[in-house]
Amino acid sequence: MHIHKFEKIWLIFGVTALLVFLSVLGVSAFYLGNQPPSCLAVIDPTKVDEHDTFKEPGLKKVEGKDWDYELVYVAQAFAYTPGTVEVPLGAKVKVIVTSKDVIHGFGVAGTNINMMVEPGYISEIVTTFDKAGEYLVLCNEYCGSGHHMMTSMIKVVE
Ligand code: CUA
Repeated sequence: MHIHKFEKIWLIFGVTALLVFLSVLGVSAFYLGNQPPSCLAVIDPTKVDEHDTFKEPGLKKVEGKDWDYELVYVAQAFAYTPGTVEVPLGAKVKVIVTSKDVIHGFGVAGTNINMMVEPGYISEIVTTFDKAGEYLVLCNEYCGSGHHMMTSMIKVVE
């Protein structure tokens, strides 16, 4: 079978690109330990207020875990609870979010925190706030007429 020279080059390029991207993915997942935000934890969205984790949203100090604090949020159209929270500088924090109604987002401006918040699921991310300042939390999934007003504030203080 005759394959044209340019077609050969293009095939080699394609296969090489595939191998490069698979290697990047493999190193990221297995060596650096990066994983997509978990959707393994489920919750009944009609019973969020009764849930052990979510009945008192906000910052909690925890012991004996890989992180120092848990920062719990409940998202619902068109607000987050809590609206403002203070986090000590340098604290390792597990952010835990769920939604009571529709799909919301949880993006923290100026950081790499960006989660989808789906009713029925618990979204989690572990992060360290190592720069003092005010961080705006934004909903980045369109959730209705008040979507653009849906914000919260994380204040990282010394
Ligand atoms: Cu909540 Cu957009």
